[in-house]
Amino acid sequence: MPYSIGLIPGDGIGTEVIPEGVRVLEALAAWFGFDLQITDYPYSCAYYLEHGTMMPEAAFEALKQHDAILLGAVGDPRRVPDHVSLRGLLVPLRQRFDLYINLRPARPLPGLPTPLKGNPAFDIVFVRENSEGEYAGAGGRLRQGTPDEVALQTTVFTRKGVERAVRYAFDLAIKRQKRLANATKSNAMQYAFVMWDEVVAEVAREYPDVEVTRYHADALAAMLVRDPTRLDVVVASNLIGDLLTDLAGALQGSLGLPASANLNPERTYPSLFEPVHGSAPDIAGQGIANPIATYWAVGLMLEFLGEAAAARALMQAVEAVTAEGRVLTPDLGGTARTGEVTRAVLEKLEEVEA
Ligand code: NAD
Ligand code: IPM
Ligand code: MN
Repeated sequence: MPYSIGLIPGDGIGTEVIPEGVRVLEALAAWFGFDLQITDYPYSCAYYLEHGTMMPEAAFEALKQHDAILLGAVGDPRRVPDHVSLRGLLVPLRQRFDLYINLRPARPLPGLPTPLKGNPAFDIVFVRENSEGEYAGAGGRLRQGTPDEVALQTTVFTRKGVERAVRYAFDLAIKRQKRLANATKSNAMQYAFVMWDEVVAEVAREYPDVEVTRYHADALAAMLVRDPTRLDVVVASNLIGDLLTDLAGALQGSLGLPASANLNPERTYPSLFEPVHGSAPDIAGQGIANPIATYWAVGLMLEFLGEAAAARALMQAVEAVTAEGRVLTPDLGGTARTGEVTRAVLEKLEEVEA
């Protein structure tokens, strides 16, 4: 049976990096002997401007049929407000498909300079709660537009929702260095994050081998910059996880590197894979977007689909390219164009396969 993949290239550089991801995916399918059935979906800001919706209701049913979804990036802030585009597509997909784990690995790639002194070899996986919390969407605006306006955006943590994310993080930590950092702001927010911390302490009793460290998220951000090698698995809420993972991407050397797996671990719905970065309007249309985050997303997708050997080969080829430091896009200090990076990765894959 072929793997059925739904593609949503989206906007800006999303439409430039997804075809590159598909090129490496198709090459790997040929080499590793699996079949692909790929369906392209046009949902984007351009679609919105034509149809008045980011995504029709029927799209959820269609997308649900796939084994996995690969998404580029959504957002065209000059033409569509970001909260309209993102809350019309990416956030509802995460919430309606119950993609409650957002897994974001962060480690520097060989040969690439990081902004950190001595280029420390950190290796962190962020487990970001991805279905509720600060992104629950609860709230409203009272007396809108008046001097007395009040805007409410309520964080919603359910015990079940927190517990399943926390449990996932513990299960991951036990397979890695057995260290779990919990990042909250329970010093300032006395309901939601206090409950979150309690859940972490409760689940921790079932994992006596995992060393749990509680951080205030602001201090964890500082720790990330000062000594990221102290961190192994980090568990965080939706918003805190979002902020920490862009920081981690910058510490890897570029936001063009890290990828993200939006997982429904029960496999009731297809999981969604994407770069961490956005549509990058400042460089869109120039053919210079770094496609590595998208390859990495393809790697995470292959791993999830059970093609671990293909995922490993892909990351080895990517690392062989970065180690040589010849074919790098401008965000990494090079002059390569997006498609040239793919060619270099495909050549490395051929060498590995030969
Ligand atoms: P961004 O990630 O798009 O860009 C931030 C900076 O990083 C820019 O300078 C950009 O040029 C650079 N950058 C990002 N990806 C790169 C790549 N692959 N290669 C080289 N440089 C890269 O974040 P932003 O500017 O805050 O957001 C732009 C738009 O994207 C907004 O509409 C935002 O809402 C949206 N967004 C979408 C997603 C998503 O769909 N997953 C994620 C983040 C932001
Ligand atoms: C991400 C993005 C999204 C988020 C936005 C675009 C809604 O920044 O995937 O990290 O905040 O989750
Ligand atoms: Mn983000």
